[in-house]
Amino acid sequence: MKKEQVNELLYEALETERGGINVYRTAIKCAQNDELKEEWEKYLEETENHERILLEVFEKLGLDPVKETPGRQVVRHIGQSLIKAMEMALEAGKPEQAELVAAECVVHAETKDHMNWELIGEVARASKGDEKKALEEAYEEVEDQEDEHLYHTMGWTRELHLQGLGLPAVIPPPEEEKEVKTMIGAGRAKAARTKMKKTTKKT
Ligand SMILES: [Fe+2]
Repeated sequence: MKKEQVNELLYEALETERGGINVYRTAIKCAQNDELKEEWEKYLEETENHERILLEVFEKLGLDPVKETPGRQVVRHIGQSLIKAMEMALEAGKPEQAELVAAECVVHAETKDHMNWELIGEVARASKGDEKKALEEAYEEVEDQEDEHLYHTMGWTRELHLQGLGLPAVIPPPEEEKEVKTMIGAGRAKAARTKMKKTTKKT
């Protein structure tokens, strides 16, 4: 394995969690649906915990959590852009649009977060000794939550868009009820929505 690139992955992962905390704080301000708001509040807490878990990994591996890397700066830039996008939407004064923008921003942020942890899982499998133990423990603790953050928010984003278009929507999305935690599960939940009770929001 390429040690330098493994370290880069971990720096980017830490920056992603930190950016994610700010993304959720802003997204919560944009949430209109109470269940979605509650969900994001839970994800915010979990993301704060992921940051703590990563800091423990940094300590165990002897990595400096404040070290800057070019990749990390890119992750920070993207995180700040997502926040700016939500602020723009909030300023436009259309709450339902801002909620949609926020849902998309959470999906963007969680896509990177989810990929980081998948890769950390792969690195853990290929590692040995203390490094393997530290990465495996962190991965086990975080993995399921990352799946939920991404797949459930993707479901919310789709249904909120459908609702906004005046089309029948399933809210909360089927991903919630089916507790989707895999890509295959997300596909099944999406397919199952055809049989579920939908509502069309009157404007
Ligand atoms: Fe996370």
